[in-house]
Amino acid sequence: MKAIVAVSQDWGIGKDNQLLFSIPEDLKFFREKTRGNVIIVGRKTLESFPGGRPLPNRTNIVLTSDRKYECEGADIVHSTEELICLLSERKYDRDKVFVAGGGSVYSELLLFTDVVYVTKVFAEKEADTYFPNLDEYEDWEIASSSEDREFEGIRFRFETYVKQKQ
Ligand SMILES: NC(=O)c1ccc[n+]([C@@H]2O[C@H](COP(=O)([O-])OP(=O)(O)OC[C@H]3O[C@@H](n4cnc5c(N)ncnc54)[C@H](OP(=O)(O)O)[C@@H]3O)[C@@H](O)[C@H]2O)c1
Repeated sequence: MKAIVAVSQDWGIGKDNQLLFSIPEDLKFFREKTRGNVIIVGRKTLESFPGGRPLPNRTNIVLTSDRKYECEGADIVHSTEELICLLSERKYDRDKVFVAGGGSVYSELLLFTDVVYVTKVFAEKEADTYFPNLDEYEDWEIASSSEDREFEGIRFRFETYVKQKQ
């Protein structure tokens, strides 16, 4: 599967259950990559979406340990094992399955992730949630990198990290 994330200079991704940045081009990139595909999110990230609702035009799979949790329009799973079973039962193309946060879910599923689309925002911002710093992992390499862009004085770029086969 793939993951998609926007990180600050020190790989921060969120604070107080909100994103650190709202960059229209990045939100568009997320929409385009995931539209028509499958996103996997933790319960807290789901609740940070507009109205606490699943994102439209894609299959939303939500991880929670709460067996009573219900959310119209989303598939609920209660463990990584249950998630992997659901993905294999439904035979999704693994290129179309995106881990979309938050911090706990990115970390737990990194083992199953081959490609990460990272929007790197060159700004420091206080965070309470982080993505694992892929630059510190020997098996992850940057396969492609966009030119630098800018929004309201904030510089950012799109990078694709690919897990190297051992
Ligand atoms: N920058 C980005 O690209 C980006 C993208 C997405 C999210 N975010 C940010 O990330 C932050 C949220 O991340 P987070 O780590 O606090 O929360 P999270 O990963 O979104 O959700 C955590 C919750 O997911 C459930 N969960 C996770 N792993 C599970 C497992 N193996 N089995 C069962 N349930 C599991 C648990 O729900 P229960 O407590 O219900 O059991 C857990 O409390 C927010 O600030 C959000 O804005 C950033």
